[in-house]
Amino acid sequence: MRLDRLIASQGQYSRNDVKKLIRQGLVVVNGETVKDSDLQVDCKSEISICGKPFKYKEHIYIMLNKPQGVVSATDDRTHKTVLDLVPDELKRDGLFPAGRLDADTTGFVLITDDGDFAHKMLSPKSHVSKTYIATLADPLSDEDIKILEQGITLKDGYECLPATINRLEKNNFEIIICEGKYHQIKRMFGAVGNKVLALKRTKIGGLPLDIDLKEGFCREITQEELGEITT
Ligand code: URA
Repeated sequence: MRLDRLIASQGQYSRNDVKKLIRQGLVVVNGETVKDSDLQVDCKSEISICGKPFKYKEHIYIMLNKPQGVVSATDDRTHKTVLDLVPDELKRDGLFPAGRLDADTTGFVLITDDGDFAHKMLSPKSHVSKTYIATLADPLSDEDIKILEQGITLKDGYECLPATINRLEKNNFEIIICEGKYHQIKRMFGAVGNKVLALKRTKIGGLPLDIDLKEGFCREITQEELGEITT
């Protein structure tokens, strides 16, 4: 790949920025100061810019703690989107949310530019669990829990896969599902005559939402953490 394209693909610099840096002699590849932006490089080339190592990553994976009122879309005319919350240093072309949370749902949204990973994470066949904390309007009986755990049939006839439900304090419940139909959790509790007052996603697969990540903030997911999602 061309050097200017490879560097620009990472989001921090435009191709024009890269050309300027090269003219200024500030880009070094494998120990040699570069003269041409069209130098062919690959992901193993050792690149430094302004004396600092420049690490190429084919894809980026971002954890966002979504606040209420933000939509899980790439752009929207009226609402703030999850992409508006990605800081410049993590931005690059092709980012999208892997899975949607309703505007009033808070918590873990994974944003990436890796379509294959997103597909794997979202496919029910991959059994990647999503864990939520739901605050309900009314108490939930043991019978309701049993029905939900066995796989409830929604009002439109859709048969949900079995879920796991754990009682927390008051009317709060942890619910773990392996699929993600439209308004699924709200419709599941609705099907036993209850109502979700608040919903937060706390975990995707085995990776919990970072408790130090405040609502509205993002951080990059490490390769090690990524492995916790799909295994
Ligand atoms: N289920 C819902 O009802 N809403 C969400 O945002 C996610 C899961």
